[in-house]
Amino acid sequence: MVGSEYVEMIPSPDKTIWSAEVNGSAVDVLAPSNAILLDVLRNQVGTLGVKRGCDLGTCGCCTVMIDGSPRLSCLCLAGQVQGTSIITVEGLSEGAHLAPIQSCFSKHGGSQCGFCTPGFLISAQALLNENDAPTHQEIACAIEGNLCRCTGYQQIIDSIQAAASIHRGETMPDAPASDPHPDPHPSGPEEPNMPPGHAR
Ligand code: FES
Ligand code: FES
Repeated sequence: MVGSEYVEMIPSPDKTIWSAEVNGSAVDVLAPSNAILLDVLRNQVGTLGVKRGCDLGTCGCCTVMIDGSPRLSCLCLAGQVQGTSIITVEGLSEGAHLAPIQSCFSKHGGSQCGFCTPGFLISAQALLNENDAPTHQEIACAIEGNLCRCTGYQQIIDSIQAAASIHRGETMPDAPASDPHPDPHPSGPEEPNMPPGHAR
């Protein structure tokens, strides 16, 4: 040691059990007591649909629904939302089938590169849960915290209006695929005719 100077080590924060309901399932994970919700959802819970964009509260990519309200998970301490019900983009679909808001984004070009899409879907679904006949202005207000570099926003607004129409029962949703990932070779590809003596 040189002289009496030393660098004081900053102790790691204690870890505690963080509990919440995430996409309908009770979750208990060990997380630092000062953990940010975005980190806990991505690193401990494994809901990687929650995107890290700016980490500063300006892009909306990290939006999740907490007890029904959209919140920026990058600006939220996990400890503040202990015991709440959290919905991420993974929780919007019904089993293997897309929710109307998801299929409408796909159908109307509301998603292009897709990085912003989970945040938009959560903000849009939170709006539709409260108001299934939103005006253009109300949709613009609901998504004002979400930034998209690709679509120009009109397709996103069209997608939300189309999903609202489904929620009101005025438009039928697309028939869900009976098997979203059909196996193209359910009994395995046919064995090729191999010449005698050729290794299979
Ligand atoms: S990552 Fe949270 S607002 Fe951008
Ligand atoms: S679809 Fe690319 S940023 Fe929105």
